[in-house]
Amino acid sequence: MTLPPGSTLGIIGGGQLGRMMSMAAAQLGYRCFIYAPEATGPAADVCAKWVQGDYADEKALAAFATSVDVVTFEFENVDPAPLRRIAENAPVYPPIEALEIGQDRIREKRFAADCNGRTADWAEVTSRADLEAAIAKIGVPAILKTTRFGYDGKGQARIMKPEEADAAWASLGDAGTLILEKMVRFAHEFSLLVARDQQGNITFWDAPENVHKEGILATSRVPADAKVIEQVPAARALARRIADRLDYVGVFAIEFFAGEDGPVFNEMAPRVHNSGHWTIEGALTSQFENHIRAVVGLPLGSTRLSAPEVEMRNLIGADADKWLEWASDPLTHLHLYGKHEARPGRKMGHITRLSGL
Ligand SMILES: Nc1ncnc2c1ncn2[C@@H]1O[C@H](COP(=O)(O)OP(=O)(O)OP(=O)(O)O)[C@@H](O)[C@H]1O
Ligand SMILES: [Mg+2]
Repeated sequence: MTLPPGSTLGIIGGGQLGRMMSMAAAQLGYRCFIYAPEATGPAADVCAKWVQGDYADEKALAAFATSVDVVTFEFENVDPAPLRRIAENAPVYPPIEALEIGQDRIREKRFAADCNGRTADWAEVTSRADLEAAIAKIGVPAILKTTRFGYDGKGQARIMKPEEADAAWASLGDAGTLILEKMVRFAHEFSLLVARDQQGNITFWDAPENVHKEGILATSRVPADAKVIEQVPAARALARRIADRLDYVGVFAIEFFAGEDGPVFNEMAPRVHNSGHWTIEGALTSQFENHIRAVVGLPLGSTRLSAPEVEMRNLIGADADKWLEWASDPLTHLHLYGKHEARPGRKMGHITRLSGL
């Protein structure tokens, strides 16, 4: 069903992704109501209404759902149970199952493998003895990670030598179920941004090559290195299987390592993604617009590039202080998220530069 312009979208989460979704929705004539636990946030400046409520407050979420025509989310770490209940009052896209899979690194790796994807070797770790056994089984270097609630490299400890197991255990041993992942050898990292509409049509943007610094995305650029481009068809085939299996509606991202013998699935995010921010100016239709289009039941727009080369750079912490410098370059698009306090490691905005025109 296609919702007519003037309809209201409910967005769970009020950060920068909600802000950019609301702006894309407004352009198409839709209004956004945001539901978030904070009193305000980056999306507050651009939405029609901000509802403060806890992510686990079923009653408040249900009331929110009755005030909107469709619900989507920008924040992944929401308890799926209350969302399932609100699905009785309003359609929820993307499917909640995608959220559940993306929330748990072990479930996610099993799902990717079921869809014929390759992942890093891994083992579940729930005790110090498990960690020893996992190191013996998969070897080092490896990374110990929390299975839930990780982001921007948080909840991770690298184990380069077996002797480092104690330190890794000391930092994460009390953080619930863990996963030990073999460190994948790769020359490049890339992601796929995928949009699927309510009829099951799928479209991809060019795959950005991503560089992470200290576990946080630093830059995304297209076109990616030739070694990445070679691996894109296999990665897309996996993404199609994942999207169809979940009957996905909306945009999602999969992060890959360009491994020595093909793409290695790292993780997926059932939402618009930081490595797709370049699409706002760098593609004919942005990830945000296509997400909104899918959620309201419109057909998808073209994902073709609008310039031969596009690069997005995150403004982390104090980087954003140079706003005047970025704004003074006519080919740089400056995006600031309206966050009042710059903390180290905090994403304050991003810049996108088109070139080769
Ligand atoms: N198994 C691995 N082998 C090699 N590098 C890895 C591995 N796991 C993680 N990394 C490196 O650490 C980065 C962050 O890891 P991961 O994507 O698991 O973290 P995250 O905290 O979920 O990040 P986000 O959700 O912000 O993408 C990866 O992009 C990659 O550079
Ligand atoms: Mg990641």
